Amino acid sequence: MTALRESALPLPLVRRGKVREVYRVDDDRLLLVASDRISAFDVVLDQPVPDKGAVLTQVSAFWFGTLAAAQPHHCLSADTAEIVRLVPALAPHRAALAGRAMLCRRTTPVPFECVVRGYLSGSAWKEYRQSGTLAGEPLPPGLRESDRLDPPIFSPATKAETGHDENVTFAHVARSLGGLAHALRDRTIRLYEEARAHAAQRGIIIADTKFEFGTAPDGTLLLIDEVLTPDSSRFWPADRYAPGAAQPSFDKQPVRDYLDGLRRAGTWNGEAPGPALPDGVVRATTDRYRDAYRLLAGHPLEVR
Ligand SMILES: Nc1ncnc2c1ncn2[C@@H]1O[C@H](COP(=O)(O)OP(=O)(O)OP(=O)(O)O)[C@@H](O)[C@H]1O
Ligand SMILES: [Mg+2]
Repeated sequence: MTALRESALPLPLVRRGKVREVYRVDDDRLLLVASDRISAFDVVLDQPVPDKGAVLTQVSAFWFGTLAAAQPHHCLSADTAEIVRLVPALAPHRAALAGRAMLCRRTTPVPFECVVRGYLSGSAWKEYRQSGTLAGEPLPPGLRESDRLDPPIFSPATKAETGHDENVTFAHVARSLGGLAHALRDRTIRLYEEARAHAAQRGIIIADTKFEFGTAPDGTLLLIDEVLTPDSSRFWPADRYAPGAAQPSFDKQPVRDYLDGLRRAGTWNGEAPGPALPDGVVRATTDRYRDAYRLLAGHPLEVR
């Protein structure tokens, strides 16, 4: 199996994120390329995980194609053969791009991350424990870590250029964006509820996720970026769900367990650069990502 650590395409690079590269195709279009890089405990590891990038891109494509609330969205194609037909300069890179590229409509991104939480975890659990609130709004007392939230709660965040995104209240978004804030919240919750119900039938709990939206030149609000992937969401195995503690990660648990072991043994201090992963851990992680695709889409991932 081959893996891609970093793409290098003959297009202007707009941005290199922790995992993905964004290229400008022309005034109207971007190419998003998901590499096989993986981050754990906020450290991007040196070793790529084969098939991870294709899983991320094809999971997004699956949701764009199936969720009613995903319309309208930015995805023009996630079919590598079609993308190469539309952008012939990519032909020599077809093999490296297989499955991992998405051709998108270019937008002006809304400057907030639309986070939605259906289970109490991560920074939301931290806020609740400290102040009994989530995104500044009171929650009932007595909730446990990982408890289900009904209805799900919109908990927006700023988009930080560097470092961590900062959680903000809905009122903060409304002051900044006016009526658009309501449209973002409604669409975010509809998307999440549709996806949570689908995933639950397939044995995956989507605990929380983050959406991004952008405005097209004609003013339409489009769903952009990656959608409901293991990287933009917390996926938990439903058969191991036990509230009252943190839950295992559907996709990254083999990597986390391995790194945790090193930290406990005092052989890694938790900072970059991360340690090398044994082949077995990499293989187990590829299997988890492929499983996530297979369960959600209903058929195994074919990388082409
Ligand atoms: N259709 C679009 N129009 C304009 N910008 C877009 C579009 N789709 C995605 N983007 C932008 O592409 C960028 C993707 O880069 P990003 O830094 O999120 O990569 P990443 O690998 O996911 O990194 P991280 O893990 O830090 O989020 C985001 O800033 C997102 O807003
Ligand atoms: Mg991102």
